[in-house]
Amino acid sequence: MMKVMSGERTLREILGRTASAYEGKLGVYARIRRRLVPDLFFADAVEVFSTSRSVVDLGCGIGLFTLALAQLLPDTRFLGIDLSARRVQTAALAAGRLGVGNVTFLQSDLRSLDVGPGFDGALILDVLHHLPVRASGQLLAVLNQGMVHGAVVVVKEIDTRPRWKWAFTYALDLAMAPRDDYGYLSLERRKAQMEDAGFKVRFARSLRSRLPYPHFVVIAERP
Ligand SMILES: C[S@@+](CC[C@H](N)C(=O)[O-])C[C@H]1O[C@@H](n2cnc3c(N)ncnc32)[C@H](O)[C@@H]1O
Repeated sequence: MMKVMSGERTLREILGRTASAYEGKLGVYARIRRRLVPDLFFADAVEVFSTSRSVVDLGCGIGLFTLALAQLLPDTRFLGIDLSARRVQTAALAAGRLGVGNVTFLQSDLRSLDVGPGFDGALILDVLHHLPVRASGQLLAVLNQGMVHGAVVVVKEIDTRPRWKWAFTYALDLAMAPRDDYGYLSLERRKAQMEDAGFKVRFARSLRSRLPYPHFVVIAERP
């Protein structure tokens, strides 16, 4: 399947095309956001979801990555969920502009998530640290129960070390979402949280970035 996108060029093209579906300030945000997430993470997500039939993107924001994935994996159904009605509306508009039909967006609070049964893939991209640790643990447990056996979850998060990188990220997070009740966890502790929620971690690694973000990815499955 990685032939689908053999290489970074296709990834970049799709992300670039998707970012151009947003207008005005959101267009600027989409172009910046697209550069903040390492391509390697995105490649991992495409690889993992290549055999999924239905993927939920929890905290999808304006749907930039949901829409890029939906274009790369046209046989997979995507559901993007976000707390912000404005972001969800923006995502749906962009889907219309791009002519992407295999995605739906829904406004909902992940703290009271009720995942219908049947998802075999979930993406949680820079969202868990926007919730207190107890709430992110609960979300992962609910997700685990709602997904089919063998389902995969792809989490991208922010590490708590090196400390200066974490502080840089936290400052930007606060600027963007000052009212959120943050709950960062180190890679090891996030892995443990996912295991506690019932997932089996397949693999986890830090991702290099040119920018000072301590990114990491964890890929896990529901046994
Ligand atoms: C850093 S953004 C990431 C957005 C998207 N995943 C991306 O990578 O572009 C965090 C997102 O989490 C959403 N969010 C935060 N708390 C939430 C909650 N309780 N329920 C649903 N979404 C939430 C925010 O609205 C925001 O869109």
